[in-house]
Amino acid sequence: MNTITRRSFLQTAIALGATAAWGKAVGTKSGISWRERRDCYPEGVASGDPDSNSVLLWTRRPPVGGSTVRKLTAEVAEDAHFSRVMATAEAPISEVSDWTCRVLVGGLKPSRIYWYRFTDSNGFGSRMGRSITAPADNDNRPVRFAFVSCQNANQGAQNAYRRMIFEDERAAEHDRLGFVLHLGDFIYEMVWYPEDRPQGIYDRRLRDIVRYQHGEKIGDCHIPTDVDDYRAIYRSYLHDPDLQDARARWPFVCMWDNHEFSWIGWQSLQDFGGVNHPRQTRKVAANQAFFEYQPARLLKPSGPSLAQFNPPKVVEAPITQFDEHGLGQEPNNLAAIHSLRGYRVLRWGRNMELIITDQRSYRSEEPTYRPEAQAFMSDDFPGFMPQEVLDILDAGKSYNNGHPPSTIRYGGKEIANFRKHQPATTILGAEQKAWFLNRLQKSKATWKIWADTVATLDMRADPQNLPAGLTNSWPGAGYAGFDASTGAGDHSTAYVERGEIYDFVRDNGITGFATIAGDRHSFWAGLAAKGLPPKPFEPVGIAFVTGSISAPGMAEAFEYILSKEHPLRPLFVGQAPHDQRPQPTMNLLLKHGVRSCLEYTKSGDLRKARALSNPDLSPHLSFVDMGGHGYAVVRVSSDSFETEFVCIPRPIERSERADGGPLLYRTRHRAALWNKGERPTLELRILDGDPRFSV
Ligand SMILES: [Fe+2]
Repeated sequence: MNTITRRSFLQTAIALGATAAWGKAVGTKSGISWRERRDCYPEGVASGDPDSNSVLLWTRRPPVGGSTVRKLTAEVAEDAHFSRVMATAEAPISEVSDWTCRVLVGGLKPSRIYWYRFTDSNGFGSRMGRSITAPADNDNRPVRFAFVSCQNANQGAQNAYRRMIFEDERAAEHDRLGFVLHLGDFIYEMVWYPEDRPQGIYDRRLRDIVRYQHGEKIGDCHIPTDVDDYRAIYRSYLHDPDLQDARARWPFVCMWDNHEFSWIGWQSLQDFGGVNHPRQTRKVAANQAFFEYQPARLLKPSGPSLAQFNPPKVVEAPITQFDEHGLGQEPNNLAAIHSLRGYRVLRWGRNMELIITDQRSYRSEEPTYRPEAQAFMSDDFPGFMPQEVLDILDAGKSYNNGHPPSTIRYGGKEIANFRKHQPATTILGAEQKAWFLNRLQKSKATWKIWADTVATLDMRADPQNLPAGLTNSWPGAGYAGFDASTGAGDHSTAYVERGEIYDFVRDNGITGFATIAGDRHSFWAGLAAKGLPPKPFEPVGIAFVTGSISAPGMAEAFEYILSKEHPLRPLFVGQAPHDQRPQPTMNLLLKHGVRSCLEYTKSGDLRKARALSNPDLSPHLSFVDMGGHGYAVVRVSSDSFETEFVCIPRPIERSERADGGPLLYRTRHRAALWNKGERPTLELRILDGDPRFSV
């Protein structure tokens, strides 16, 4: 290992305040008497954010049965018997960090599998973990990884991880995963105690996974209020055996989405019932628990220490002044959101750079969550909002080159434009966006992957094509988008910001631009374009969204929340005469349009239904499954980008099978690398099963 690498490793270690170990050139047999005692390490082990010569290791060793230790020894070996130990490091643990432990190990070889374990002064050892370093920057070989999101241990089972492990163990070495990218909702901070809702939620029974010591009850659910509560929910999730095994098998790269802090959380505000509550102390607590439980290369201004978070002192103070990007200027708000920087870049060889962004800490308020936006919604059209209304609300005062209308027409009425004097929505915030565009422009990797926790692909329907008389007439001028509870609020309705990013990609001749996301609890594959017909359709990249690991999706929710008598039920969860149960016809709605949904529920003939497809509705979409769960696997090489969707049945209960239960389907989308000025294209192959409504 050359000295430049060693110097850069030490710089990283200093920046992170890491307990750092430097690998040896030749491994030696472990001299530690390690006896596995998983009960002393109830949350298992993990590794995270590998680069080509280093990786972060993690465990937690709380006081158990009167045995309290203050120090752990981490060992990293080239073999599972620890006969070639390459690095050893001692790390302090204490109750200040809830007995969690983070160690940075460097001097490792690129593209290598390593084994690691922790041992305390009694010789009580953690389970063994497996980690993998990233390839060297000039390595041209393909890279393979999984991306996941939205696991809900309160409401479902993590069978998807079991399948991922099962398949990886049986795969050829070059087909194995290098890491798992977790795009958020690693935890759900909103917890229902079983007695609060004996009937469960949708198809799910509620599990008794945590009791918040200082929680707040909102309606019939409970939310955390301090760092002890946030720690408690991480611990309860990590007791899931399938998640714990996955963390021990691969390095994870984790980014928070909303539920790591709050359901409708933005900056340090929590929105409940249309009211924004300043919650600076909770945002800091959420960041602290993330820092303690996720091994990741994050920066914090409270001082470089991997051992302790050192939270800034903040108080809940009203946030009333916002700058020209919608950023709350209240000092405690700024201190809270800057207490941990999650956005970062990781590199895997010559062909891939992962640019990870934070969609919650710096964003402006989502317009469709405002109570004033209710005036543009109707129970006749559940979830629908006119596209032209979403456009005006998103752009705010920048609409129509700075000449926004004072009123917006909806169903023959003129309604006040409550966004007329406010800036356009930003999800990234000005500072992060400048950083993001700069990284995108500078990237030398073949594929520049934007790990955006929220989706970018438009979700729209064509209610203007509904037959007369089925229901009241559509109040919009043309296409419909969706309100915040069903679809808006991600990068698919932040039209101004998305347009700015995509124009930047086009204007700078950036090729190999791919976006991967979670949050939607559904599988999507398509092309990244800022506009859809009747606007010009000009794709600049490819985009994917993964189904949830276990959190309920919209198809499941609509089976329950949409009345059986609703005239538009066939557009969402229609049932043909021969169907035993509701079907996810909303996939047809989003990809083909209302006529296809109505034809399917009438005849039950999918071929006839697709024949009525509206070609202008979704030229950007290749695939959509609003009912799918599972994970996505990406393989990037010097000339192509492939994404597999691995879809499993609704994970209501834990599967006892070694493979985690049956597979519903497996699909593969392939994009060949395009040249500057060329249009990207996607080719779909169905490898297993039948995704029926999704194509
Ligand atoms: Fe989620």
